[in-house]
Amino acid sequence: MNDINALDRKTLVHPFTHLGDHDAGLTPSRVIKKGKGIRIYDTQGKELIDAFSGLYCVNIGYGNEAVADAIAKQAKELAYYHSYAGHGNEPAIELSKEILDWYGEGMARVFYGMSGSDANETQAKIVWYYNNVLGRPKKKKIIARLRGYHGATVISGSMTGLPFYHTAFDMPAGPILHTTNPHHYFEAEAGMTEAEFSKKCANDLEEMILREGPETIGAFIGEPMLGTGGIIPPPENYWQEIQAVLKKHDILLIADEVVCGFGRLGANFGSHLYGMKPDLITVAKGLTSAYLPLSGVIVGDKVWDVLKQGSDKFGPFSHGYTYTAHPLCAAAGVANLKVLKELNLVNNAKVTGQYFNAKLNETFSHLDFVGEVRGQGMLAAIEFVADKESKTRFDPSLKIGAQISAACLEQGIIARAMPHGDILGFAPPLVTTTNDIDLIIEKVQFAINSVHTKLR
Ligand SMILES: Cc1ncc(COP(=O)(O)O)c(C=O)c1O
Repeated sequence: MNDINALDRKTLVHPFTHLGDHDAGLTPSRVIKKGKGIRIYDTQGKELIDAFSGLYCVNIGYGNEAVADAIAKQAKELAYYHSYAGHGNEPAIELSKEILDWYGEGMARVFYGMSGSDANETQAKIVWYYNNVLGRPKKKKIIARLRGYHGATVISGSMTGLPFYHTAFDMPAGPILHTTNPHHYFEAEAGMTEAEFSKKCANDLEEMILREGPETIGAFIGEPMLGTGGIIPPPENYWQEIQAVLKKHDILLIADEVVCGFGRLGANFGSHLYGMKPDLITVAKGLTSAYLPLSGVIVGDKVWDVLKQGSDKFGPFSHGYTYTAHPLCAAAGVANLKVLKELNLVNNAKVTGQYFNAKLNETFSHLDFVGEVRGQGMLAAIEFVADKESKTRFDPSLKIGAQISAACLEQGIIARAMPHGDILGFAPPLVTTTNDIDLIIEKVQFAINSVHTKLR
C-alpha cells in the first residue's frame, strides 16, 4: 500500500464503506488518477473499463476536452455570481433553454441544485408550497416506492425505499409513504401477466391513497425505470395504470430522471419512453456527465402557474442555494449536451443498448443461477438466484453479488453489485461501442463462470 492509500484512510469519510474496517486497512482502497473514454486508471497504474460510468453519470466518457475547455473558459470569464433576486448568468440561461428543448412540450422552467438528493428535497418543498398556494394545507404526503432510490438527504433519503439507507439515521422522516415495488419477477403472483401485475400495483396505490385520504396526498415520485433498487424496467402498461390513479385523485407526478434523463435509456428522457406525463422532473448525473456537480428540477406548466401566484400570497420564492445556477456547472452542462448531440449518443444508447441487452441475455440467462437478465438502453442487470424454479434468493451472507462484482474487477471490468440482492448492474458510458461491449461480455463471462464453478 503506498502513501496515498494510507493518507486516504486517515483523512476521508467514504460513503457506503465500513468505516472501522477501512480505517484499519481491511477494506480495499483504490485511488483513481485519470480517465479516458470508457477507462479509468488508478494510482497503481491499473486500467479498468468502467461499465458503470462512475455512478451512472459519466455518460460521455472520461477526459472529454470540449467540456473541460468550456469549464476553463467560463472560469476565466465568470466563475461565479448568484442567481438570487433576478440575477442570471449566460450559461445557466442557455442550459435552461436546452433542457426545455430536450424535453419538449409541457415543461416551463428549471431550478438548479448540485445533486440529485438536493433536487428531490426541492421537489418536496415545491409540492408543499404548491398545495399551500392552492389552499390545500393537508395535501402534503408524498408516495414513493419500495426499492425506489431518490437520494440520501433527509427527505430524499426517506423517499428512497431501501432500508439500508435508513438504518440508524432516524429515517424515513417526514410525510413519506412507500407503495409496491413494481418488480414483476419477484412481486407478481404466479401466472400473473405483466399487464395484470401493473394493474395490481395501481390498485395497491389507490388503496393506499383511499386509506390515507386523497386530500392528504400531494405527489407520487418514481424513477421511470428503477435504478439503485435493482435496475428494473417497469412492467407493461405500468405508468399508464399509475397515472390514471394519480389523475383521479389530483396527485402530482414527479419523474426522477436522475439516471434515465439525457439518453441513458436510448430516449431523451425515460418519461418519453414509457409515456409518462410528469408535472415535475428531477435531473442530475447525465446533465453534466459529472464533469461538475449540477442537478435540476424541471417545473411543468401546471405547477409553474401556481408557483407564480405564490409570490403574491407569500412574498418572493424563498428557496435556493449559494450555488443555484452556478455558471461553471451550467457551462459544463451546455458543453455536455452539445457532445451528446454531436456524437448522436442518445441513438447510440438505443442501438448499442439493444446489442448489449441481447448479448447479456444470450450469454447469461440460461445459467442455472441466473434468475433474470433485464435492461433497457445502456442500463442492465443480471439477478442471481439460488433456485431458478422457485425464485429463491441466495443467503445474503454468501454475498454472491459482491463476489461476482469482485471477480469482474479482477478481469478489469467495473460492474456494480447493487444493494439489496445479488444483482450485477451495468451502465456503460453512452460512447461505448459494440466492440467494447463484446470485450465487457467476454470478461464478465469469465468472472461469472469462476464464481459459478466455486459455488458448485
Ligand atoms: C434516481 C436517483 N435519484 C436521485 C439520486 C441522488 O443523486 P445524488 O447522489 O447526486 O444526490 C440518485 C443517485 O444515484 C438516483 O439514482
